[in-house]
This record gives sequence, C-alpha cells and structure tokens, in this order.
Amino acid sequence: MEDLRQKYLAAIAAAESEAALEEIRVEALGKKGEVALKMRELGKMTPEERKVMGPKLNALKDEINAALAARKEALADAALEERLKAEWLDVTLPARPRPAGTIHPVSQVTEEVTTIFADMGFAVAEGPQIETDWHNFDALNIPPHHPARQEFDTFYMHRDAGDERPPHVLRTHTSPVQIRAMLEHGAPIRIIAPGRVYRSDYDQTHTPMFHQVEGLAIGKDISMANLKWTLEEFCRAFFEVDEVELRFRASHFPFTEPSAEVDLRCSWEGGRLKVGEGDDWMEILGSGMVHPKVLEAAGVDPKEWQGFAFGIGIDRLAMLKYGIPDLRAFFDSDLRWLKHYGFAALDIPTMRGGLSR
Ligand code: PHE
Repeated sequence: MEDLRQKYLAAIAAAESEAALEEIRVEALGKKGEVALKMRELGKMTPEERKVMGPKLNALKDEINAALAARKEALADAALEERLKAEWLDVTLPARPRPAGTIHPVSQVTEEVTTIFADMGFAVAEGPQIETDWHNFDALNIPPHHPARQEFDTFYMHRDAGDERPPHVLRTHTSPVQIRAMLEHGAPIRIIAPGRVYRSDYDQTHTPMFHQVEGLAIGKDISMANLKWTLEEFCRAFFEVDEVELRFRASHFPFTEPSAEVDLRCSWEGGRLKVGEGDDWMEILGSGMVHPKVLEAAGVDPKEWQGFAFGIGIDRLAMLKYGIPDLRAFFDSDLRWLKHYGFAALDIPTMRGGLSR
C-alpha cells in the first residue's frame, strides 16, 4: 500500500495538466483503478484483516483525492499567473497616438461663441474680407473725410492710376456684414458674423489681421436692456462661470446711438485671470443701438425698426479664457505653440456637452 501511495503522490506532483491529473485519477480510483481493486479485495479478507485494511485503504483514497485537488488548484493558479503576466498592461502609456493636428484657439473660440449665440437664436452671416469702401464706411455712417476713417488704420487695395472709383479695403471690422445681412434679409433679423478683419497695427495685443464677431438684432421693440441681457448671458456661458458683472461705459461709434463699450469684472491675482470677481475691468467689446442712418442705408425703415449691434474681439476672448499672453504668437504657426494651446479635433463645443474641456 505504501508503494501505491508513493507512486500516485509522485505522479500527481509531476502532472502538468488537468488532463494528466484525470488520467491518474482513473488509474488509481476509477472503477478498474488500482486502489478500487484493492478495495474489492477487502471482501476476501477475514474480518480482522478488513478492520485494519479498510480504514487504511479509505485513508489512501482520501489522500490521493486531496492531492489531486491540491495539484489541480496549483495548476490553475499557475495558469492564471501566466495569463496575468502575458496580459500585463502599462496604463501610463498613451491610450492612442494623439492626432498631430490641433484646433487653433481662434477656431475653438469662434465655435464656442457661435454655439452660444446659436442657442439664443442668432443665425450666422458672412461677408467678404475685401470689402467696398461703401459697406465698410459710408453705409455705417462714416462718410469720406469723417475723422473715424483715420482711427481705423485701413489697408486700401490698389487702384490703377486714373481709376477714380474709391478703392476697396480690407474690412476693418465685421460691421459691414450688418449692412449686407439687412440688405439681403431685411427686418426683423438676428445674426452674428464671425470673421477676419484687418488694421495696420502691430504689438503684443495687436496684429494686422485679427478676428471679430459681429452681433445684430433688429425688431420692433428691441432695447439696450435686451443688449445687456444678451451680453451677460453670453459672458456667463463663454467664461463658464455662474456670475459675471458687466460695466457699460458711454462711448462713441458713428454707427450706433447711444454707444457703449463693455467691460468685464475680473481679477488678475497671481497672474491668473478670474472672471466675475476682483477689482479689475477688462474691455471686451463695443456695442450700441443701431443708428437710424445705418438702418436706412441697409433698406430698413428706422421709424418701424430698431435694435442693437455689438462687435467682440475673438482673439481677445481666446487670450482671456485660455491665458495666452501674446497675440502675435497666434499667427506664427509655431508647432510647439499649436500643440500646447491647440484643442483636440473631436472636442466639439456644445451647450449640453460643455464648451471646453
Ligand atoms: N465695429 C466696431 C469696432 O470694430 C465694434 C462695434 C460693433 C461697435 C457694433 C458697436 C456696434 O471697433
């Protein structure tokens, strides 16, 4: 019996698979197995012999069963261990290679602004960047020789000598889109017009090309109060804060009356901009009630219609919201800058999903 015990325990210890263990089990304990045969021999023994051998055989059977179970578990553990080793994953690796391209902050902010105003019922309008003198100035109540023309640092397109027509200009603001939109659609109207504008100016906060978004809302009884609510609502949504405070400062634009420049309460504590708190004010836009002469030039009867307009600097908004200190870097096409300040291509701003993440 001791031979049997040694033989099977050794075989079990050496077994390398469940199948091998099963073979050993059948060989030892199966119906025709060696231990089973010995059990059968008990019948031929004397009662005294049986009393001794019976418990011994049972103990052997139990021991083999226990050894089989233990070995089976050890094999399963080893297999799991092996699998875990093979399936090991470095969670610090990037999940997927990031696409090389990014969305420029100006594009991102344009999308954000458009999304917010679309939610308030503003359609998007566009106009040409090479604009007629009339759309850019005259129709906006800035006649030739008006001092406001000087303030704009306008780029004029070339005219051949002897060509007396007024030269086209690179539009100095998005306001001419007000004229184009009203000429095309009449009133009532509610549009925004994002786009590029040009002025001959260059320093840390000015580049000769930059971006504005124009807003225009014309109806029967649209007032400054509607303008104020619209701009506050916009700032809350854009800067993603619950409270904003705007300051309307009396100002002058030839195309609005009254006119107001709008400042946003903010703090620059620790070099970081916080909107809605602090003791600083940051100018973010020009606005006012559309001048009757502008409505007239655009074919809208000022006795019947009135409304507000505003012009916001998009690049300025991007600098404020994303803490970008130098405007000139926006247009350097430096790949390191674009990687740092750019946005993932699939993070499209939505009112529900969030504007920026
Ligand atoms: N067009 C003005 C500018 O570029 C901004 C503005 C737009 C002001 C609409 C009032 C109304 O400075």
